[in-house]
Amino acid sequence: MTDTTSLCVIVLAAGQGTRMKSAVPKVLHRIGGRSLLGHVLHTSATLDPRLTAVVVRHERDLVAAEVSDLAPRALVVDQDEVPGTGRAVELGLDALEGAGDDILVLSGDVPLLDTDILHELVRAHRERAAAATLLTAVLDDPSGYGRVIRSDDDNVARIVEQKDASPDELSVREVNAGVYVFSAPHLREELARVGTANAQGEKYLTDVVGLLRERGYRVAAVSAPNAAAALGVNDRVQLSEAARTLNARTVEHWQREGVTVLDPATTWIDVTATLARDVTLLPNTHVLRATAVGEGATVGPDTTLVDCEVGAGATVTRTDATLAVIGPRATVGPFAYLRPNARLGEGGKIGTFVEVKNSDIGARSKVPHLSYIGDTTIGTGVNLGAGAITANYDDLAKHRTDIGDEVHTGSHNVFVAPVRIGDGAKTGAGAVIRKDVPAGALALSVAPQRNVEGWVETNRPGTAAAEVAARARSAQKADDGAQDQDG
Ligand code: UD1
Ligand code: CA
Repeated sequence: MTDTTSLCVIVLAAGQGTRMKSAVPKVLHRIGGRSLLGHVLHTSATLDPRLTAVVVRHERDLVAAEVSDLAPRALVVDQDEVPGTGRAVELGLDALEGAGDDILVLSGDVPLLDTDILHELVRAHRERAAAATLLTAVLDDPSGYGRVIRSDDDNVARIVEQKDASPDELSVREVNAGVYVFSAPHLREELARVGTANAQGEKYLTDVVGLLRERGYRVAAVSAPNAAAALGVNDRVQLSEAARTLNARTVEHWQREGVTVLDPATTWIDVTATLARDVTLLPNTHVLRATAVGEGATVGPDTTLVDCEVGAGATVTRTDATLAVIGPRATVGPFAYLRPNARLGEGGKIGTFVEVKNSDIGARSKVPHLSYIGDTTIGTGVNLGAGAITANYDDLAKHRTDIGDEVHTGSHNVFVAPVRIGDGAKTGAGAVIRKDVPAGALALSVAPQRNVEGWVETNRPGTAAAEVAARARSAQKADDGAQDQDG
């Protein structure tokens, strides 16, 4: 690897990103769980440069906050009213006082570059003793990019922007990736000569290349081995392209680490997520932010996990979960909704149409069907009957439900919090539990059932219900009579 410790980096992040048509500054749009700028800062940090300057202007406070979040040691430099990448670099360079010789310029909207390419760029720059070295890519569709114009001897002569290019120049498919290494003194000197007499009235960084060549300095070019890595994001179409490319890369990385991804096209993994060996991701699954999935777990199909922890051997099916902890060998779903601080112990179950938030469900405990569990602690070996609801809100404040170990509850119970169910207790079907249940007790809160015979025929005469009821009752009587005779 090239020694990059003397390197200074300038990241361009001052532009508005008009083509995004967005209230959010372009470099803060996110792919793979990070902003575009975040990806650039992250890759740049792997070079361990001596100093980094990030040039900001549009929505400067938002962008500066992102910089201080992700790269607290980087300098935030404000661009003035002179527009253009050249002006941005000029001000970045001014801020990097005592900068070493090599300046790496990165664009905040070119998020997919990897460390290897940047090392290669620096290496080539030094080896060829160039005044500038640019990263280029050959694209099937070069539209929007600056074109690399080469002279007859095949050396780079200059870069021409799309809006300033002649029809001949527009047909060139080799483009400028917006990533360069410059020698600082040459860069400073030529930037001072760059004007704004072009189609966009901007001070173009790219003009430096032609000026250096005119003065006989060497400009080298490194061609990106993978053109997709040089993708610049200027609009929402390119944003989704970049997201897809990044995701394909992330999926492949985990596949090579021993993860089964059945359908890479519909499986989205943030760069911040981690997956252990023998995890299986089924189609339409999103593994986002700091989610960590343990060995042998199966996630999906149709599942979104945000900042979740999934234990080894767990199964999570058709589930939406945020900030939840799912224990080893536990099962969740199908159709479960886990909200922040839902925790399920080892071998536990959160089943079908169940919502859980801010609750601890102990090992081997089950909430299998149609339930809402909020602000609750459940011990081990518990089974809640279908339709269990914790009424955690009394219209003024939230209260907790506390359920002990080995508790089994009947179907369709309401637990009116604050309430406590002791160890080993049981509840009857349909119970509304308003008072604490002592350990080992059976709690019943439903009045004994009373059948009023003939009510329908008396009160709803002439209806279909009365008709079928009358028929059933006379058939029953005939039956009873026959049985009496038999007996
Ligand atoms: C730029 C290059 C183009 C190249 C392309 C690669 C110039 C003049 N053109 O074009 O040759 O093919 O990138 O993706 O450099 N920025 C500032 N201050 C400004 C203007 C822009 O910091 O005044 C930042 C933007 O935030 C962005 C980057 O510079 O991160 C590139 O700006 P953008 O307007 O997207 O340039 P392109 O037209 O894509
Ligand atoms: Ca761009």
